[in-house]
Amino acid sequence: MMMLLTALLAYLLGSIPFGIVMARLFGLGDLRQIGSGNIGATNVLRTGNKFAAFLTLLGDSGKGAAAVLLARALVGEQAAGIAGLCAMLGHLYPLFLRFRGGKGVATFLGTLIALSWPAGLLACATWLLVAVVTRYSSLSALVAALLAPIYTAVFYHLHGALLVLVLTALIFFKHRDNILRLKAGTETKIGQKG
Ligand code: G3P
Repeated sequence: MMMLLTALLAYLLGSIPFGIVMARLFGLGDLRQIGSGNIGATNVLRTGNKFAAFLTLLGDSGKGAAAVLLARALVGEQAAGIAGLCAMLGHLYPLFLRFRGGKGVATFLGTLIALSWPAGLLACATWLLVAVVTRYSSLSALVAALLAPIYTAVFYHLHGALLVLVLTALIFFKHRDNILRLKAGTETKIGQKG
């Protein structure tokens, strides 16, 4: 019962669209009509408001971490992984936005940091490295998501790595338009207005 409750709570937490909240709070307009139309920090950055983008990153990653930590404290380690998955599903398919959510990168990183901080920090470092070299947010996310199951297997455990592999697949699925744009050479770079 507690497991089910924490999973539900994690989904609801994940459903909070911090990008939309920040865009409203800072009067940035309708994120769905800006740049890629995504509700994440990268797209908030395209409005030119770095602080709102930073708060979006903090909120979207924080809700993933909070879901995991809460489930771990209330139920245990197995529930922590399931809560991470539910928080991701909440962000990707949010109840509050008629199930049309974001791409899950910040929530993924927050979840991973809470599950296994060395694996999470390595994934963040991977994101940062690819971002510095290529300036593509989507490519950075895809490379970090691809390597994250390996980091998780090394620093956490194999079951955790399998769960993270599911999250990686979800991230790739949600980035299918970005992948097409990357292939076509039309993907916008970080900070570039789309
Ligand atoms: O965080 C999402 C990022 O990987 C891509 O975002 O807005 O460029 O599609 P966007």
